[in-house]
Amino acid sequence: MQVEVIEPHGMCAGVNGAIARALELAKSRPAGDRSPIYCLHELVHNEIVIGELKDLGFRFVDRIGEVPRGATVVFSAHGVPPQVREEAARRGLKVVDATCPFVARVHRSARAFAEKGMEVCVLGDPAPAEVRGIVGEVEDAGGRAFVGPHGVSAAKAKGGAAPLGVVAQTTMNSDEVERAVAELARARRVKTMAKVCGATKDRQDAVRRFCRGAGPGAGVLVLGSKTSSNTRRLAEVAEDCGAKVFTAGDVEGLSRLDFSGVGRLGVTSGASTPERFFMEAMRFLRRVPEHVAIIMDGNGRWAKARGKARSEGHRAGAKTLERVLDWCGERGIRYLTVYAFSTENWKRPKAEVDGLMALFARMLKTKERDFVANRVRFRMVGRRGDLSPKLLSIVESLERKTEAFERQLIVAISYGGRAEIVDAANAAVARGEQVTEETFRRHLYAPDVPDPDLVIRTSGECRVSNFLLWESAYSEYWFTDTLWPDFSEADFDRALESYAARDRRRGGA
Ligand code: IPE
Ligand code: IPE
Ligand code: MG
Repeated sequence: MQVEVIEPHGMCAGVNGAIARALELAKSRPAGDRSPIYCLHELVHNEIVIGELKDLGFRFVDRIGEVPRGATVVFSAHGVPPQVREEAARRGLKVVDATCPFVARVHRSARAFAEKGMEVCVLGDPAPAEVRGIVGEVEDAGGRAFVGPHGVSAAKAKGGAAPLGVVAQTTMNSDEVERAVAELARARRVKTMAKVCGATKDRQDAVRRFCRGAGPGAGVLVLGSKTSSNTRRLAEVAEDCGAKVFTAGDVEGLSRLDFSGVGRLGVTSGASTPERFFMEAMRFLRRVPEHVAIIMDGNGRWAKARGKARSEGHRAGAKTLERVLDWCGERGIRYLTVYAFSTENWKRPKAEVDGLMALFARMLKTKERDFVANRVRFRMVGRRGDLSPKLLSIVESLERKTEAFERQLIVAISYGGRAEIVDAANAAVARGEQVTEETFRRHLYAPDVPDPDLVIRTSGECRVSNFLLWESAYSEYWFTDTLWPDFSEADFDRALESYAARDRRRGGA
């Protein structure tokens, strides 16, 4: 079975923002404070996320009346009606509003219609919190709302000269919304404003594109919780396109699926599904390494062969890295560690070293938006004290801003495998520790990152050059003559294919 990632998929900005707010709140509690943080409804519709928040002390309630006076309450990403806001104020609750900005926009549109005296048709399923919030907004403005499929019929039947305002739940099937709007427009004058949000539509369109390209008999695997409306819509879209649809909320569910007979499988995930589950699923379906490390070598020779300055080779190499980071995302590889500058590279001419440091600073500054948009966590490994204060502050600011993301790019700067081991040993000595392999590991630069499964080196050199000496004890190696700036997607896939075919015995028989 050929497994393909459907892009875009997964968490949207609204969900990401809501989770980040909740995590920030948990972190800001004084040490030892175990009082619950209340959340009205599930923050986002995903069991993995909810389970983790419960572990952090979140308590989920269905009614604002269940929150004790004076406590902190988070409004979920789906939004709340104004009546709930008022009740929260009356009860003296501290409110943290995690409403998705697109849902908030639908509220504003619905309210604006109602304030003009228009009736409002809210497309969507009447039950979910999101729709109840929008309806509450219309009613608060003294308006009348028609809701759900019955609402469409009632709004049509009513006719009349006054225009009807139409808004939609942000996670609806965009085709269905268009059909409903067309149906209403045949019966009466309609005005539409906020409809399905861009992230929902883009994910649904990507599934439609995959199904068209893959032809009949293709399968689509949708990852996410049953409670998630946008996840269910993705499955519906795939079904409408004639695909065989599979759904799973966790790895256990995934392991129960039977894909026999499927030639091509597209994988997508809902806007509330954590990326780490998506990547876990990819590793389950294909033998994709969880962690790839690369010795990006050959920039100088690439430049020399073209009669260019070495600095141009480094610039071209930086572009290759951007591409490789995307390829990792598309293949479900969670960690990418790259060797950018070794402890030995300080020996190079000052102009080259200065040029490289300036290139790192520029890259990290200009790419900040991409890291956030693509939900990639940036971190540095290496001797931080060797960096200029300016570069270090850029590094650490980007680390802080991307801390919550699950996919990671780890850049080794002023890094040496021996230096890392020595630094870890000194940290252990300073604490008076008698080390074991397990306790020693805790002093490494990125102790929580699993060892690399695959180490790639470009440019024909078959040596380790002081890279990840501790961590690569059982890594698979793959060498290519290609110089780093020329490293292509086909090269990358060859390395991954080679990895997938290897038998990793780790000393076993
Ligand atoms: C790797 O390319 C990049 C760094 C070490 C910073 P090189 O600069 O080592 O290129 P070659 O090996 O001289 O071709
Ligand atoms: C290793 O490459 C370091 C990086 C890629 C950053 P080098 O080019 O510095 O290593 P040697 O000199 O070939 O061993
Ligand atoms: Mg080199």
